[in-house]
Amino acid sequence: MRLFLAIELPEEVKRILWRLQCDIPGARWVEREQLHLTLSFLGELEETATQSLTALLSGIRTPGFEIRFAGTGCFPNRRQPRVLWIGLEPEPQLNRLAAQIRKAVLSCDIHQEERPFSAHITLARLKLPACSEVAAFLDQALKQKLPTVPVREFILFQSRLTPQGAIHTPLKRFQLA
Ligand code: 2AM
Repeated sequence: MRLFLAIELPEEVKRILWRLQCDIPGARWVEREQLHLTLSFLGELEETATQSLTALLSGIRTPGFEIRFAGTGCFPNRRQPRVLWIGLEPEPQLNRLAAQIRKAVLSCDIHQEERPFSAHITLARLKLPACSEVAAFLDQALKQKLPTVPVREFILFQSRLTPQGAIHTPLKRFQLA
């Protein structure tokens, strides 16, 4: 199964983020229901590896915390934008959770990217070179203040790739302390 770990967002927040969509040539906007904060992408996992990992993840005792939204940005850079995202204010508990998850994942011999965790919510993926619409999107300050989101759990999701796009299904919820 193709799996990842993420924090789910309240419907109210998803609705606001969904409305940030604008007309950018070649942009594939993330479906409203699928907006999430990725903690770790696991890729294809066998059942035994999934079981070992879920046992370790169940032992994580990080306390709950709150996330606050910051400005928009893009990966890898403005000259070649591939992913448009909304960022989060630095939150030590979130970084601690991501670090504990990474440790658990690596100890199950599951590959993880080298680059450090960078808290973001992907809004769109871009298929065409940079254009003025992307610059306008990035320069435009968020007009609406987004609510602070309390985080009390993280979730193991299955991602099934279909011709219509990925379908995400929650498989297991891990409560924070
Ligand atoms: P991101 O877009 O939030 O950065 C589920 O596929 C999630 O896993 C995506 O939202 C993506 O996070 C993340 N991810 C990281 N590496 C990935 C990869 N190689 N393929 C697909 N998704 C990946």
